[in-house]
Amino acid sequence: MNWLITGGAGFIGTNFIHHILSSRTDVTIINYDLLTYAGNRDNLKTYEETPAYTFIQGDICDRNQVDRVLRDYEITTIVHFAAESHVDRSIVGPMQFVVTNVNGTATLLDATREYWLNNTAAPSGEKRFHHISTDEVFGSLKPGEPAWTEEIPYAPNSPYAASKAASDHLVRAYGHTYGLPVTISNCSNNYGPYQFPEKLMPVVILNALNNRPIPVYGDGQQIRDWLYVEDHCEAIARILADGKPGETYNIGGINQPTNLLIVQTICHLLDELSPSADGRSYESLITYVKDRPGHDRRYAMDSGKIRRELGWVPRHNLEDGLRMTVQWYLDNPDWVESITSREQFRDWMNKNYAQRGGSAK
Ligand code: NAD
Ligand code: DAU
Repeated sequence: MNWLITGGAGFIGTNFIHHILSSRTDVTIINYDLLTYAGNRDNLKTYEETPAYTFIQGDICDRNQVDRVLRDYEITTIVHFAAESHVDRSIVGPMQFVVTNVNGTATLLDATREYWLNNTAAPSGEKRFHHISTDEVFGSLKPGEPAWTEEIPYAPNSPYAASKAASDHLVRAYGHTYGLPVTISNCSNNYGPYQFPEKLMPVVILNALNNRPIPVYGDGQQIRDWLYVEDHCEAIARILADGKPGETYNIGGINQPTNLLIVQTICHLLDELSPSADGRSYESLITYVKDRPGHDRRYAMDSGKIRRELGWVPRHNLEDGLRMTVQWYLDNPDWVESITSREQFRDWMNKNYAQRGGSAK
């Protein structure tokens, strides 16, 4: 049971590896990650001395290295998280998203095809290539439109979403054409421990704690479907165990508040758990800034298929998940400092928020 996890040093990959290594003894994990700005090897430092875990710094676009890793570690399962994942960055610099998300996925798929299907030295037994995708491939919902099922046609709006859609199509095509045993999951907005502080929730928590403006894009009435990351990890584990090759599964959190409500709720939690020095509510820091170009208005996932076929339902409601998330950032100042002190991180935050008319430095 040698599993290759790409992008395992990022937010969801880290949580997934923790989930698997803390619940199973029959799996060996090879974490293959380039360590871009979003990767942090130390997230999984605790496993580095154990035989069940190996970290390899590498690029999914590097065919030779991918070939070597598949062969040397006799990989039987691949869970492909590695990607450029931030919509705002894809608007500023779309080409890196094409390189990583499209070319990188194609490289990984083709290397896997060669190794599993055209190589007698490959390990025998069941294989699985599971691709992690997003609800953003479906576009944006109008008020009253039903949540997305797996049958909804793709209509990606941002360069990020388009690059993920392209990668999904490649995965599907390798399954259809070559019989590669692929599954895909499209999931909604994850939140929880280790999320890189460029995304909404950690931005709000850290800006509040540092007495900086809390940037709300546009009118703050956009809706996302929030999924606690641990629930997502359980869903992936179910798909790996019982999902059918060639199938896709939608995964949502069944929590669809407006962005503004999320921001206000986090402020209230912080008022309770870490009150400001001057006694004012963190809500007073909320600042409306220029909207994201092409900003999708509403996402909602219909998770009926994975519930019916694999028995998965999310176990965390938003209230509990938010409280655990805020508490995790409060409890892990060293992790926060190790990321936010990077010059690369500060440059991005200045660049992103300066052009919005905010001052979230
Ligand atoms: P992340 O940005 O936190 O982590 C991405 C990881 O991929 C990093 O560790 C990075 O170093 C690595 N990486 C990037 N380019 C690489 C390359 N060329 N080769 C090897 N490694 C590379 O992302 P995340 O939020 O953990 O998302 C993981 C996956 O889940 C992505 O595919 C994303 O599209 C998808 N997804 C994320 C969410 C979400 O809410 N975060 C929701 C739906 C789907
Ligand atoms: O829906 C799944 C997607 O969720 C994943 O595929 C992406 O990888 C992940 O980054 C996430 O994309 P979003 O664009 O929805 O996430 P983000 O945290 O960047 O933004 C969430 C919402 O909050 C969105 O409507 C924009 C808004 N926002 C974001 C930031 C960073 C703000 O209002 N202010 C902010 O400072």
